[in-house]
Amino acid sequence: MKPYNLDHVAIAVHDLDAALAEYERLYGVTALHRERVEEQGVEEAMVAVGGSFIQLLQPLSPETPVGRFLDQRGEGLHHIALAVDDIEAALEHLRAEGARLIDEQPRIGGRGARIAFVHPKETTGTLIELVEPPLG
Ligand code: CO
Repeated sequence: MKPYNLDHVAIAVHDLDAALAEYERLYGVTALHRERVEEQGVEEAMVAVGGSFIQLLQPLSPETPVGRFLDQRGEGLHHIALAVDDIEAALEHLRAEGARLIDEQPRIGGRGARIAFVHPKETTGTLIELVEPPLG
């Protein structure tokens, strides 16, 4: 298992439009992609910075994982995502290492990518997402 890129750093925000406006005003970066991901209870925007993204996440309701995160911890770093070539092999490796997985099987995230989350207890309190980006 060898991640080949830091795919994205995800930030939980209360107001996606306001956050995007701030990123554009201060850093001159804009969203390349915006999508409502019902399954994860978020509206997300992907802001490209070099070969990686900043992913801004606004919860669709307070009763979602990101909604509860915002309620408890406020805006800020939610997770980091590592790009891998083969997400099944990566999950198998983590299972063999005894890591606690949130997703035993990959599911579909934004951009149609295959994703899986690893419990933050495994890595310095940081939620890690594995992402196998869609081809092309
Ligand atoms: Co993510």
